Amino acid sequence: MIEIQDALRKKEIWAIGGGKGGIGKSLITGNIGIHLARLKKKVLLVDADLGGANLHTTLGIGVPEMTLSDFLNRRAENIQDVIIKTSIPNLSLISGAQDFLDAANPNFAQKTRLLRHLETLDADYILLDLGAGTSFNILDFFLFSDHGILVVLPEPTAIENAYRFIKSAFYRRFKKVVASQNIKDLIDAAMDQKNTMGIRTPYDLIERVKQMEREVGEILELEVLKFRPKLIVNQVRTKNDIQIGFSMKSACQKYFGINVEYLGYVEYDDCVWQSIRSKRPLAIEYPYSRPSRCIERIVHNLLRKEQLTASMLY
Ligand SMILES: Nc1ncnc2c1ncn2[C@@H]1O[C@H](COP(=O)(O)OP(=O)(O)O)[C@@H](O)[C@H]1O
Ligand SMILES: [Mg+2]
Repeated sequence: MIEIQDALRKKEIWAIGGGKGGIGKSLITGNIGIHLARLKKKVLLVDADLGGANLHTTLGIGVPEMTLSDFLNRRAENIQDVIIKTSIPNLSLISGAQDFLDAANPNFAQKTRLLRHLETLDADYILLDLGAGTSFNILDFFLFSDHGILVVLPEPTAIENAYRFIKSAFYRRFKKVVASQNIKDLIDAAMDQKNTMGIRTPYDLIERVKQMEREVGEILELEVLKFRPKLIVNQVRTKNDIQIGFSMKSACQKYFGINVEYLGYVEYDDCVWQSIRSKRPLAIEYPYSRPSRCIERIVHNLLRKEQLTASMLY
């Protein structure tokens, strides 16, 4: 039974994505979760990588009996039935779908049911570890969250994917707020970078929408201000790598008009794969290592931003 006070507890949903596999999304999600749990926050980690689920491994847990597949396919009626406790106090997990053939692409009803159930849960923080790519499901989880966090590596391929992710999420958000089919079609066409209408950036798109329907263009302008994805640069080896976060931030501002928040970086260190190999979470096996401390600093940055937002609201 879901208690009413549980449902009323104010919770934050954070989604961790990045448009690419193997960049440290699961590692960062798992360890952010551990740091939050140590701060006595009640945390639920959800492996929403429907097709490449491995969040349990970063926590040093084997494949659990009940997973998200059981919930999506209604073998488990209630989301509570697929939550497992970890050995870390305050930290629980919904492990990822294993039979990915039918679970990798949940339909609209399955996705809505999942998000609805998540909203009723008793937790301070729900962290969604997203899959690679920019499919609608991944973008929708990212847009549904209170904080959408992007992980990027200091490598051209990962950076390209991160830009593509930001742009796709942004245009999907636009599409959700407009009703007119003509404008939805225009947004779809604008997604093609080589479109013949000369729309290269969200600025161009908004100008074009304004020519069609001024009020809708103005609504989209407000959406730009509200969309504030956050960025983490992982596997940093040099000072220049750290700077990549700042250059991506200014490029997003300049070309997309989007205000990206650079949350911080995580250093590259062999202890990361050593901890994964020994099936022990990084923050437990090497709590004083540089990557673990970097993740801890990111958690504090996020909590500080949250406090700032709350103080602006009240
Ligand atoms: N900061 C880091 N230092 C060293 N190796 C890392 C770091 N971050 C990630 N890795 C390596 O990258 C691998 C993939 O990370 P993972 O979190 O599974 O990526 P994703 O969830 O994005 O697919 C890890 O198993 C680890 O070996
Ligand atoms: Mg992963």
